[in-house]
Amino acid sequence: MTITTCIFDAYGTLFDVSAAARIAASEPGRDDLAACWQKLASDWRLKQLQYTWLRAVADAHDDFWEVTQNGLDWAMENNGLNDAELRERLLQLYWELQAYAEVPKMLGQLKQAGFNTGILSNGSPAMLEGAVSSAGVGEMLDDTLSVESVGVFKPHKKVYDLVGQRFGCAPKEVLFVSSNGWDAAGAAGYGFQTVWVNRAVEPMDRLPWTPSHVLSDLTSIPDLAAKI
Ligand code: LAC
Repeated sequence: MTITTCIFDAYGTLFDVSAAARIAASEPGRDDLAACWQKLASDWRLKQLQYTWLRAVADAHDDFWEVTQNGLDWAMENNGLNDAELRERLLQLYWELQAYAEVPKMLGQLKQAGFNTGILSNGSPAMLEGAVSSAGVGEMLDDTLSVESVGVFKPHKKVYDLVGQRFGCAPKEVLFVSSNGWDAAGAAGYGFQTVWVNRAVEPMDRLPWTPSHVLSDLTSIPDLAAKI
């Protein structure tokens, strides 16, 4: 089997989603956040994702920016943080997330080797443009595909269909990479070759589908893509 196209999830895979809470917590005058930023970040992420799944099954789509704000509001209340200025700061930082350290070199190697490269994300086009540009990786990506063009969140099949529509490739030619176990599993069920980047050393999700490969970061993706 030959891979032609390497597709990446955005948040948590290429871009460090916990950076917003971590950076805000390190700023002066944020003692309340400093005491709970890791819990805040994990509550925020979990609620954000739960809201995407619930909206997808209820056929009640709204964009990822709305869902991201809804998740943050729940997380702030759950952590006793009632601070409008902090809310704005956290949301602002979400638009300027940095890529994980290995990302620029890894994407450069993929491009040099001739693979198609892209993002496939729940993020809205504007959010993704912000993250790609603040991380400085736009030159190494052929395209950034957002669920907004189909109006439903992952892991709906219509989302994974976007890759073949854009790159003209069969599912088995695609290496899909996500740090979200459920996303890697959903993409495996769709028919992509998949990598679960298990950065957080979590147990495998118990779902009907299993990712083909598990890595701890993205460094060896170019080698893997060339070998499959
Ligand atoms: C995304 C989320 C799921 O980028 O991380 O689609």
